Amino acid sequence: MPSDLKRAYAGKRVVVTGGAGFIGSHLVDALFAAGCERVGVVDNFFLGNMENLRTAENYGDRLRVYREDAAEATAMASVVSAEKPDLVFNLATKALLYSFFNPAGACRVNLDIAITLAELLRAGAYGKLLHVSTSEVYGSAVHVPMDENHPQLAETSYAAGKSAADTLLASYVKMFDLDITTIRPFNNYGPRQNSGALAAIVPLTARRILSGQRPIVQGDGKQTRDFIFVEDTVQAILKLAVHEAAKGAILNVASGRETSMIEIIDILSSLLEFSGEYDWQPGRKADVRRHLASVEKAEALIGPIATTDMHSGIERTVRWYKDVGSLRF
Ligand SMILES: NC(=O)c1ccc[n+]([C@@H]2O[C@H](COP(=O)([O-])OP(=O)(O)OC[C@H]3O[C@@H](n4cnc5c(N)ncnc54)[C@H](O)[C@@H]3O)[C@@H](O)[C@H]2O)c1
Repeated sequence: MPSDLKRAYAGKRVVVTGGAGFIGSHLVDALFAAGCERVGVVDNFFLGNMENLRTAENYGDRLRVYREDAAEATAMASVVSAEKPDLVFNLATKALLYSFFNPAGACRVNLDIAITLAELLRAGAYGKLLHVSTSEVYGSAVHVPMDENHPQLAETSYAAGKSAADTLLASYVKMFDLDITTIRPFNNYGPRQNSGALAAIVPLTARRILSGQRPIVQGDGKQTRDFIFVEDTVQAILKLAVHEAAKGAILNVASGRETSMIEIIDILSSLLEFSGEYDWQPGRKADVRRHLASVEKAEALIGPIATTDMHSGIERTVRWYKDVGSLRF
């Protein structure tokens, strides 16, 4: 952990919504490692898991877990009043695939949480909001690399809700000069990513192979994403949250490398020694075709973001699914 980050976080009190989830729990670990005095996790455990907070539990009562809905204004007001955070990190969401089951709910949760947190910030209940959005707000690439001015062409109601949340928060920055930074991560992978219902490509493929099933390829498998290892995303979030020039900004966080679904499935198959036929299925509706980020804006502030190469990142992920994650299958 760089010493300037330790100086920035020493003694800080923070709240992390969605802190029992995949990226959120890695962020919680990193915040303790950076010297935060208190971390309050707000999670309704829709997909979150206390096992993800095992390392953080070593910090005893410096970790507080609130089983609450982050969209609920009264609950969040109580949490913020108890925790008195300098910073709130907003990562709570319901996974993209949930929007196919409950499109309205998947949209609403993203906007409602943003409204609740923006209103508390406007009331002076805490100091700064680091909002985690998503590259999904861009839809399929109209041009590559996709910078932060790429049109917002959400293809799912999940992404539509995220896009609305980003617009809402940008309006609060303009109207009330609030200290909000919005991060748009591209596709994350790594240990602790949910491998059950609503799983993304890396955990889904790992789970299938490890449980003796064939990997699924949707459509032609040539859809691309910009994959980034979760710990690289977390380091970028930590740095941008305390960077003066990131105040009011919207910033992509990604690797700047494009990988197709079939390439990812090939890498996982090779690492997990799967040599059979893939299960080719029809393409998913509303599936983004191509994603490749421009990370120029964020890297100008914090330097190189994706310091983990894909092979070692996937290797570490696979090792985790073999050792720990497979217990959850
Ligand atoms: N995983 C990715 O590839 C990726 C890419 C881009 C952006 N993001 C963003 O990063 C953030 C974290 O994503 P993740 O992959 O860790 O997802 P995740 O599902 O693992 O974590 C989200 C957490 O939010 C919790 N949650 C859901 N609704 C809630 C509510 N109303 N109140 C409180 N908690 C609630 C869930 O229980 C879960 O623990 C999200 O905002 C997501 O949009 C993720």
